[in-house]
Amino acid sequence: MFPAEIYQYLAPTRLIYGPGSLARLGQEILNMGVKSVLLVADQGVARAGLLRGALDSLGQHNILVETFTDVPVDPDVTCVTQGMERVKTIQANLIVGLGGGSAMCAAKAIAIVAANGGTIRDYEGFGKIARRPLPCVCIPTTAGSGTEVSAVTIITDEDRHIKMAIGSPLAYPSLAVLDPELLISLPFAQAAASGVDALSHAIEACLTTQATPLTNALALGAIKLLGENLVQAARTRDLDAKSACLLGSSMANMACGNARLGLNHALTWPISSLFGVPHGLANGIMLPYTLEFTMPKAAQAMAGVAVALGVAPNDEPADRLAQQGLSRLKNILIELDFPTYFSTDQLEPDRIPDMVDMLQEGIYALFRQVNLRTADREDLTNLYRRSLQGWDKD
Ligand SMILES: [Fe+2]
Repeated sequence: MFPAEIYQYLAPTRLIYGPGSLARLGQEILNMGVKSVLLVADQGVARAGLLRGALDSLGQHNILVETFTDVPVDPDVTCVTQGMERVKTIQANLIVGLGGGSAMCAAKAIAIVAANGGTIRDYEGFGKIARRPLPCVCIPTTAGSGTEVSAVTIITDEDRHIKMAIGSPLAYPSLAVLDPELLISLPFAQAAASGVDALSHAIEACLTTQATPLTNALALGAIKLLGENLVQAARTRDLDAKSACLLGSSMANMACGNARLGLNHALTWPISSLFGVPHGLANGIMLPYTLEFTMPKAAQAMAGVAVALGVAPNDEPADRLAQQGLSRLKNILIELDFPTYFSTDQLEPDRIPDMVDMLQEGIYALFRQVNLRTADREDLTNLYRRSLQGWDKD
């Protein structure tokens, strides 16, 4: 359970959590000595009226606000550059990102470029950011990405057709406001996809060589919250269930931000980059295949995941418990209407060699390497082929 080398745990983002907590936004920002902010969101969030609470709170504290709502589903370099221009118009000294992972990642990227210049492309990879970004406040309206507590920002490079990961210990948001009331009207499909992404973050964090008792505590706690509440949260307006998933999502990222993600997010990166399959959907479809592959080298860790998913602890061997955990996960995916395989539009079989090539270097190669069972080229090819076939429903 303990890694052989020295390790650290880092999760410096302050959290404010609870129904109605958005009303505190203005005071919190004033407390940071800030008078002028850029509020970043997408059109869907704006149309759903979700900006009103933030604008009211900021207005009550006489904070100058410029609103930028042109964030696309996959925020790209152009969007970040446009957002930067808006920062200049009011000389904003703090960025608020309100929305799903896209709006929050766009906000974090704008904060990086505002302090460091150039374009966000200049900072691809880890540790490339020289100056601390502008402070950033993230307010999630989905329970999934966990980017509100993460040092990593995902931005699409529209020229190269890939999603870039930009990470730095300097780039954590200063504050995350977790208000479950913002999730009340989230459509089922979005709630399901984002929640399964969070579940994947937590499960992967348990199955890496970097997991520690500290990250496991957070990850297993997140799995329990998500496993017990995700279906209810996605299918109803139950505020308690949505609260549980929102906190579970942040906890999952506090775990995987330190234990790292594993093979599942590595495998789905080319699928989302090349074929545009939404991130949460891709991770949910792939997860059972990833776990089937990983379990022979991770029975003990997976048995812990199984118990967190609600499998009663018993005297059976760990590999049997692990199997029961996988069945429980598949049931959750069925209840959330997830497909059991990728269509050939979502994963073009002819492109599998290119996809495998993409996983040979960079951050996603690292995720592949820290997985408790490492996948070589042949394994990756087989996993992609297997994910086109489907698994049997019990
Ligand atoms: Fe994810």
